[in-house]
Amino acid sequence: MSNPREQWSSKASFILAAAGSAVGLGNIWKFPYIAGENGGAAFLFIYMICIVMIGLPILNIEILLGRATQKNPVGAFKALSGKPFWTYVGALGVLASFTILSFYSVVGGWSIAYTVEALKGFTFETPQVAGEFFDLKNSNPMWVVGYHTLFFLMVLGIILSGVRAGLEKASKYLMPALFAILAILVVQGLMLSGADRGVSFLFDPDWSKINAQTFLLALGHAFFTLSLGMGAMMTYGSYLSEKDDIVNASYLVAFLDTFIAIMAGVAIFTVVFSSGYDPTAGPGLVFHVLPPLLSQLAGGYFFALLFFVLLSIAAVTSAISILEVSVAYLTDELKYSRKKATLTMGALVYFAAIPCALSFNVLSDFTLFGTGFTFFDMADYLASNVLLPLGGFFLAIFAGYVWKVDEVVRNLLIGESQSTYFGNSILKSKSFVAIFSFLVRYISPISIFLVFLYQFGWI
Ligand code: PHE
Repeated sequence: MSNPREQWSSKASFILAAAGSAVGLGNIWKFPYIAGENGGAAFLFIYMICIVMIGLPILNIEILLGRATQKNPVGAFKALSGKPFWTYVGALGVLASFTILSFYSVVGGWSIAYTVEALKGFTFETPQVAGEFFDLKNSNPMWVVGYHTLFFLMVLGIILSGVRAGLEKASKYLMPALFAILAILVVQGLMLSGADRGVSFLFDPDWSKINAQTFLLALGHAFFTLSLGMGAMMTYGSYLSEKDDIVNASYLVAFLDTFIAIMAGVAIFTVVFSSGYDPTAGPGLVFHVLPPLLSQLAGGYFFALLFFVLLSIAAVTSAISILEVSVAYLTDELKYSRKKATLTMGALVYFAAIPCALSFNVLSDFTLFGTGFTFFDMADYLASNVLLPLGGFFLAIFAGYVWKVDEVVRNLLIGESQSTYFGNSILKSKSFVAIFSFLVRYISPISIFLVFLYQFGWI
């Protein structure tokens, strides 16, 4: 074969890369503001239920489908089922990768822009002034498109270098840096006076804030944050060898992802509460509220800078996994070279993202289908609330009813290493198989289905 498929150099490299994909803007930009708007701890609770009961089994399945077929989502479904329907489900993943990256790279661009601003030093007195600055900057299309371009070039550079020299190496250096920066920010947040109010916001639930909408948001976010439902984890799994264990890797990735979201919540809410600000600032939370608050602390110049470096790293290591899905599709299915695939998909996604970048200026009054959503809002909404859960729904149906749970478990056992419990393999225990089967065949598809019905106003 002219294009031998690359593989990760070790299981640890895979875990770092998969964690790099999972830990992204979803954890640091999105989780804190959705939790902030939806009752803090109460949201966290529902979100964790979704992670454990729906996210984890689907994460296992996605990685497994990739490892078993050594293919991108379209090729994986084609190889296992042979039916055109499932190939379309794989193609849905490629579509989702376009949609997500088109708004993701705008926020990635903002993160880089704010790193540059932090280097110059923030001089805002209040979040209101910072908000005006944010709006002013965004009103200039050249500014938004320019930073979107810069962000995109970084992503392309990494993807062009390949699986080992690009994806693997980037996460090997960037993920430890991300963790170290976040740890510094958490410690400094906890040392502020009034930090306890931020912590209790995140850990003392206000149940009155919970309603059906909370479930919708929590489920959508669980998919988004674990990079599920569009084949990113499948594609990363396809670079694993059969020797590598999947179950432990999935637990570790889901744990790291949740832990880092909580750390980001602590780092952000301690600062917000100790300054007496409102946690419900929405998507602008990290761009409006944090720059003035962070930079006014002792040593604030560095904390503000560190925060935006953190955000940029998180965005880059996730964005590469989003684009890799489409690149793997072209290299596997159409036998493109990596370079040709990256440049083709890169150019397509880059241009698809332009309307999102213009949603804050030239196209700000242009809303879609009477929804009041701009291109940017629509891409974000479609990804988290429609495409990813839909992908997850089909994955659960595929694993539970087409591929069958026994076959899934048989495959999971291949390469299984330390998932033992008092010396017995967890996977071989009857109760594991029964619970796994129940979650995959009933809980996941039914809850996703109910959430859809609710979302479209049918219940
Ligand atoms: N998990 C990433 C985040 O939390 C986003 C993402 C979604 C990445 C889907 C890949 C696939 O930011």
